[in-house]
Amino acid sequence: MATFLVVGGAGYIGSHMVKQLAKASHQVVILDNLTTGFRPLAKYGELVVGSLADTGLMEQLFKQHDFDGVMHFAASSLVGESMTDPAKYYHNNVANTLNLLDVMVRHQVKHFIFSSTAATFGEPEYTPIDELHPQKPINPYGASKLMVERILQDYASAYGLNSVCLRYFNACGADPEGELGECHDPETHLIPLILQAASGRRKAITVFGRDYPTEDGTCVRDYIHIEDLCTAHGLALDVLIAGKQQGAQAYNLGNGQGFSVQQVIDTAINVVAADGCSLIIEEGERRAGDPAVLVADAARAKSELGWQPRYADLNTIIHHAWQWEKKSSGITFEPVL
Ligand code: UFG
Repeated sequence: MATFLVVGGAGYIGSHMVKQLAKASHQVVILDNLTTGFRPLAKYGELVVGSLADTGLMEQLFKQHDFDGVMHFAASSLVGESMTDPAKYYHNNVANTLNLLDVMVRHQVKHFIFSSTAATFGEPEYTPIDELHPQKPINPYGASKLMVERILQDYASAYGLNSVCLRYFNACGADPEGELGECHDPETHLIPLILQAASGRRKAITVFGRDYPTEDGTCVRDYIHIEDLCTAHGLALDVLIAGKQQGAQAYNLGNGQGFSVQQVIDTAINVVAADGCSLIIEEGERRAGDPAVLVADAARAKSELGWQPRYADLNTIIHHAWQWEKKSSGITFEPVL
């Protein structure tokens, strides 16, 4: 049994990670300021409500616990907001992360897993995107994550802090056991928005543009199940702790398969029809900053971490997300494993 600190463990991805760690019999301390996280999602670890900006609290936490590693999920992550309020992104995502890294260095905690993003690549120059693709972010959100990636390289060589950055494409789905799922306020992600339209919590789903250079004209994305995403984090931590990798590593995480917005909607229509639900589709303009196609080449994560996605099928992803939406919206719920 090991002890891990999961920062942002009351959020969507962090809460699923905490559950996986707890299931593997690890002890987990969750640090979350609950600005975008939810207390009920933090049920598999010991929740400490606080901020990375609170250096006194951080010092106290690291004195109290002998952490074997740290996973960091806490971040501001809305691309559009990052354009209008970049200060928020550089403070939350860069300055606060530096506080965390500094306390780790002071207490000689040497294993760090960092949530990075496909947004560090900017406009794709080729697809699928591997780790050699140039990183030229086009918004402060992507830039803030890339800055931390760079900081981690320097902290590895100067202070021996070993890290793995995992660059997510489109994280989605929900706990297959139905206990956790996506809760964002505001919700901006495609799959939960579609399912909220189906459950009646929203009027309709709007398709943002049908004039992209793709087969059906809608944007193509690489949707990766939250469980598979978390499994990759667990493997990365194992590799670091076993000393199989040192320095600052980075991996792209996706299924390597693209689905268009229309394909996602069509799959969701089939899933919700089983419960007698349907949805209204509206047409909208392109959303600023959306590339036509974003698909990951995750070969490196597979070969070096031994990662293999278990829920790559879009139907299963949407099924699990629908279970959660039914639970959240009060529709009768039966777990589908
Ligand atoms: N979309 C719609 N209608 C909606 C919401 C989304 O058509 O109401 C479309 C978007 O235009 C996009 C696709 O659905 O083509 C997926 O959009 P999401 O907002 O679900 O996800 P993004 O691809 O925009 O975002 C993901 C991550 C971000 C990351 C970004 C990198 O969630 O954290 O990729 O580009 F920054």
